[in-house]
Amino acid sequence: MKPHSREWYSKIARELGTYDHPWKRHTDGPDPELIYDALLSNLIAGGMWVLEAGCADGKDAARFGSYAAAWTGYDREEEFIKIARQKVPQAAFAVWDGKSELSMMLRGPYDLVVSRRGPTSVIDHLPEVAAPEARFLYVGPTLDSPRVPDKLSAIGWTILGEWHTRVRTWLPTEEDDRARSEFLGEDHDPERWQAESEVRGRMYWEERQTILAAAK
Ligand SMILES: C[S@@+](CC[C@H](N)C(=O)[O-])C[C@H]1O[C@@H](n2cnc3c(N)ncnc32)[C@H](O)[C@@H]1O
Repeated sequence: MKPHSREWYSKIARELGTYDHPWKRHTDGPDPELIYDALLSNLIAGGMWVLEAGCADGKDAARFGSYAAAWTGYDREEEFIKIARQKVPQAAFAVWDGKSELSMMLRGPYDLVVSRRGPTSVIDHLPEVAAPEARFLYVGPTLDSPRVPDKLSAIGWTILGEWHTRVRTWLPTEEDDRARSEFLGEDHDPERWQAESEVRGRMYWEERQTILAAAK
């Protein structure tokens, strides 16, 4: 099953009920995704309406939702949305794939639209759902596919900042190496493990690209 395909996310939602990396890791510094948390904490304010694309089981709604006037998450996996509704009853959640017609509940207007490793297709809908002075915050392993900055420029949004962060990270055991390879849709390479593993395990770079944009 191809990682990040629809069936793959359905299986994770059914079997695990949450989205998380299935391998252990030790990093040599702060998690590169913390920049997203810091930006989100600084941007969010009482009175704001927030829309989250690809909210899965509502982890960010649970963490940050109470700082906003309203937090609405959507995800195309119905199972995730059921769990999110149970976990965070004070937030609103909808099943949506970004392709079918936008329901009334998702129309906003939102002051802040966020996506943590979620679908970048939400960018196509910003003109419909975002308030005139809205912000968009995204973090993912890459900005390249599709080109997030290009998509934002195409709708006339201004990029306020881009943060490229990476930290040396260790996979402590071969099982963790295998789990990561499978998660990335790659074959496990025992020879690479043999050649590259040290006392702390095998090193790789954990990378994130974070982008903040404004409607004007
Ligand atoms: C990598 S997971 C991230 C989940 C969550 N934001 C987190 O950080 O834990 C991506 C999520 O986006 C959802 N997703 C992927 N493509 C989508 C689309 N086109 N429309 C809505 N949700 C989508 C998946 O079902 C999954 O829950």
